Amino acid sequence: MYTPSSWRVASLGVTAAIMAFADAFLAAWWIGSVWAMAVTAGVILGLIVSIAWTLRHYVGAVSIALLLAAAAMTVMLARTSPRASVFSLLMTLAVFGIWFVFYDLWFTGRANAEVVTPVTTVGGDGRAGRALIVHHHGRGREHFQHRMQLAFAEGLQSQGWRVDITTASREAPTDVSAYDLLVLGAQTYNWCPARAVVEYVDRLHDLRGKPVVVVVSGGGMTERAMRVLQAHVLRAGGAIVDAIEIWKSRPNAERHGLSDPVTIMRRAGARQAGAPHRHTA
Ligand SMILES: Cc1cc2nc3c(=O)[nH]c(=O)nc-3n(C[C@H](O)[C@H](O)[C@H](O)COP(=O)(O)O)c2cc1C
Repeated sequence: MYTPSSWRVASLGVTAAIMAFADAFLAAWWIGSVWAMAVTAGVILGLIVSIAWTLRHYVGAVSIALLLAAAAMTVMLARTSPRASVFSLLMTLAVFGIWFVFYDLWFTGRANAEVVTPVTTVGGDGRAGRALIVHHHGRGREHFQHRMQLAFAEGLQSQGWRVDITTASREAPTDVSAYDLLVLGAQTYNWCPARAVVEYVDRLHDLRGKPVVVVVSGGGMTERAMRVLQAHVLRAGGAIVDAIEIWKSRPNAERHGLSDPVTIMRRAGARQAGAPHRHTA
């Protein structure tokens, strides 16, 4: 299983924090301060609940195990002092609340926020084929997904295709009948595909077997997001002709035999242009 290096650093930091608070809890117990025990236990439980919440899409069983451990600790504290356990529960909620507001609503919410852009057209007259690329505009400084889609478009163009590119939003075209190929590009956020792309696919209703290429980008843990996005495409009636996971931190050679993501995407575009898709224009 691939584990990003940032993850190793973060899990080390969280473990160190939990151990420091566990030490403080023991010290509170030693001096017999029930309230200090309640505060330290509340912070530890808050961190455990926050981790369980964050991992829920990735390893649900671990999330449940962590929640059970937190519940067991709360019961143990309640046996010592019911009032302290209520206070500890409030601390737990406060720590989880801070985590939820900063990580889920602010950090992930900002990354998922829909961005409206006009449709840009590149390529020839469209006689060879026409494609629509709809991708999410992420917050990453490199605009990795956008660069990947431009490379894919270059591959299609190199075979004489005309390509319309836009971002996934309420304003992106939902009538895709004039296109031979629909390309979707979504970043992975917490093991889920970018929300704007999923919502866009859900608005398409009936793709009537339209060939669809699904591109999911991420640090290196994209498998679940790919499965989720594919399920939405299939539900909308699309026919998935290629599913590309492309990574920023994990070596792409593992999956594609090539390390340069731009080359991988350019080749994938050219390959699709040569594939015998139904010409609907
Ligand atoms: C809140 C957040 C959560 C993320 N979760 C994941 C993840 O679960 N798996 C993964 O491989 N990458 C994850 N990433 C990395 C992004 O997928 C990656 O930065 C993005 O695909 C880069 O594209 P962009 O430059 O177009 O934004 C996450 C990034 C953010 C900001």
